[in-house]
Amino acid sequence: MNALAKKYEFDTAVALPEIDFNKPAISVVGLGYVGAVSTACLSQLGHRVVGVDVDTIKVDQIAKGTSPIHEKDLGAYLDEGVSNNLISATTDLVGAVIDTSVTFLSVGTPTSEDGGCDYRYIEAAARSIGEGLRQKNSYHVIVMRCSIPPGATLNVMVPEIEKVSGLKMGDDFGICFNPEFLREGTAIEDFYAPPKTVVGANDERAAKVVADIYAPVDDNVIMTTIDVAEMVKYVDNVWHAAKVSFANEIGRICKPLQIDSHKVMDIFVQDTKLNLSPYYLKPGFAFGGSCLPKEVRAVAHLADKLEIDTPLINSLSISNDVQVEQATEMVRASGHKRIGFLGLAFKAGTDDLRESPILEVINSLVKEQYEISTFDPAIDPETRIDNQFTYVEHVCPHLKPTVEALPQMMRSCGHEVIESSDVIVVTQNTPEIQKLVASAFGRVEIIDLVRVFKDQPMFQSYQGIGW
Ligand SMILES: NC(=O)c1ccc[n+]([C@@H]2O[C@H](COP(=O)([O-])OP(=O)(O)OC[C@H]3O[C@@H](n4cnc5c(N)ncnc54)[C@H](O)[C@@H]3O)[C@@H](O)[C@H]2O)c1
Repeated sequence: MNALAKKYEFDTAVALPEIDFNKPAISVVGLGYVGAVSTACLSQLGHRVVGVDVDTIKVDQIAKGTSPIHEKDLGAYLDEGVSNNLISATTDLVGAVIDTSVTFLSVGTPTSEDGGCDYRYIEAAARSIGEGLRQKNSYHVIVMRCSIPPGATLNVMVPEIEKVSGLKMGDDFGICFNPEFLREGTAIEDFYAPPKTVVGANDERAAKVVADIYAPVDDNVIMTTIDVAEMVKYVDNVWHAAKVSFANEIGRICKPLQIDSHKVMDIFVQDTKLNLSPYYLKPGFAFGGSCLPKEVRAVAHLADKLEIDTPLINSLSISNDVQVEQATEMVRASGHKRIGFLGLAFKAGTDDLRESPILEVINSLVKEQYEISTFDPAIDPETRIDNQFTYVEHVCPHLKPTVEALPQMMRSCGHEVIESSDVIVVTQNTPEIQKLVASAFGRVEIIDLVRVFKDQPMFQSYQGIGW
């Protein structure tokens, strides 16, 4: 728990903070679930806050220090803020921008008719913010808190603000994207103990203003670019949804088997090395090997036998096949025919070729008359590989001719593969392969399936599968 959370212990009967004139005054636009909580909590941090909404009922409620929504402690915090002259509310957004130096934007971004994002509310707010900026002559920071598609801050908000204000982002005003991670019901508690604080910004001055505002509750703000911050918000929620659906499918399978799904998942979550960890969470190539594809099929089969619908689990193999096809398509799109592969096994350090997804890529290319050479530090042309395929003969008999031809494609040294190729496909990430790839820059095109370098190389002849 951070110092402020400790100080207040979420107890509303505490001494009220004094107005701190060193802290920027903040306008909060949109007094719904996000905005009302921000208004209350920012005032608790000592900021003077002007709440703005087009809904006069909400404005009246906030101005009186009553909560427009059901949220633990919110009413008491708003009441404190109003009594302490830290919170006021208005429908006049232009005036609120003139009266403050930072504007937090939390208007709704509902789903549009075509399933995308309805920009109506942020565009209307942007016009009023622009009008406010036009009438003032000091630096102002706009903090986007709405969930919006990546690119919308810079391509929807900024042009509208610049057009109306006649000002220039970066010089006259700053804009940041600061995603909101609060959970309704524990929103106040989450504000004081956030899971993380992310500030996407394209200029340091604006970023510092926002980081300073959050410093009392989080002194470890994650700074990034605006587009990354916008995407983080979407990715977080899709991930939460994926977890809920996954757990529910496990429950649906366990119930008819009379297995307690909660006991299963209680054990599942105790594994923080592989299950709840960054492991397996970086975009890259398809999963493969002797376990994952087989077990995914087995669980989907089990559900089918039980006549249970498990669309998420069933979709995993489909999604994996799409990733294999994506890699194959990248090779085709290169327009070259001499293709070298660095890495054959599904991961480095093993000669296990069972269900290595790169074999599917090679198989398609062989059929299309591509000239293939391969190098895997753990496999040499003498390695006996034919016996491995009896294991999966029910799954991939279509690979047989390619597997039989594999020894002729194998080279005992990576440089030989580079010399005889126009395109190199990188499927394993080891220091040895990194060195080989670095030596190949400028000589061949590189298709990277494993993010072999942490920072994306800026060579035109380099491309990654998901970056
Ligand atoms: N609710 C959540 O838990 C949550 C969490 C994270 C992010 N978000 C995102 O935050 C944003 C706000 O969500 P919410 O749930 O608070 O929405 P909400 O619908 O509860 O509130 C939005 C408010 O904006 C007001 N508004 C609309 N146009 C306005 C304008 N031009 N000027 C002033 N006020 C205006 C509306 O009257 C409304 O009161 C959305 O983008 C949402 O996706 C919400």
